[in-house]
Amino acid sequence: MILKGKLVTLRPVELEDIEFIREMVNDPWMESLITGWAFPISKKDQQEWYAQFHNSDKQLRYIIETEVDGAVGFTGLRNIDWKNGNAEGGGMRVARKENMSRGIATDAYMTLLRYAFYELRLNRVGDSVLDYNAASIKMTSKVGFKQEGVERESIYKNGQYYDKILLGILKSDYDKIVEETNYWDV
Ligand SMILES: CC(C)(COP(=O)(O)OP(=O)(O)OC[C@H]1O[C@@H](n2cnc3c(N)ncnc32)[C@H](O)[C@@H]1OP(=O)(O)O)[C@@H](O)C(=O)NCCC(=O)NCCS
Repeated sequence: MILKGKLVTLRPVELEDIEFIREMVNDPWMESLITGWAFPISKKDQQEWYAQFHNSDKQLRYIIETEVDGAVGFTGLRNIDWKNGNAEGGGMRVARKENMSRGIATDAYMTLLRYAFYELRLNRVGDSVLDYNAASIKMTSKVGFKQEGVERESIYKNGQYYDKILLGILKSDYDKIVEETNYWDV
């Protein structure tokens, strides 16, 4: 199912997207900002990833695209826990500096969360950010995530340990943001 936001569309990953995804995963700037990590990914690695990848009841991955720009990023949900109604945000990424601060990630997350809370019947989505990732802290706060804790020095990058900030959003937090901002009405 394709998910329509105000600015972006979230659609399934296609074979022709794999080089775009590989570029993001291999981008040193992006690697420096995410809490996860990856070894450098070759074309063969990426093809193998795609061969075994599929959206399922455990994880959903989407390409973020805009009508004008085409593919601009990647997002999703993982570790979906149907019994307890929760999941984790799956590594929001927006590619290329010229696409930053256009509201793409905000709209992608608002769209993903609407799907999570109003179609999948989840109640909670968790995420985490590095303590120095100002853009991500701002964007997650705008969509309604709350800080729930800090994992001290749990991430090692560039020869140093950094704190990981733990975030969570409940359906009730999301509803409040939608109401306060009239998000889907304007
Ligand atoms: C974090 C990221 C997803 C944000 O994407 P984006 O499309 O630029 O986000 P948005 O435009 O929706 O919102 C970003 C907000 O942060 C602000 N911002 C951007 N850079 C900032 C900075 N260095 N310091 C403070 N705020 C900043 C923007 O102005 C915007 O706020 P505004 O809407 O009030 O103007 C993107 O920068 C990215 O992909 N980074 C690399 C990977 C990453 O960090 N992923 C998140 C992992 S948790």
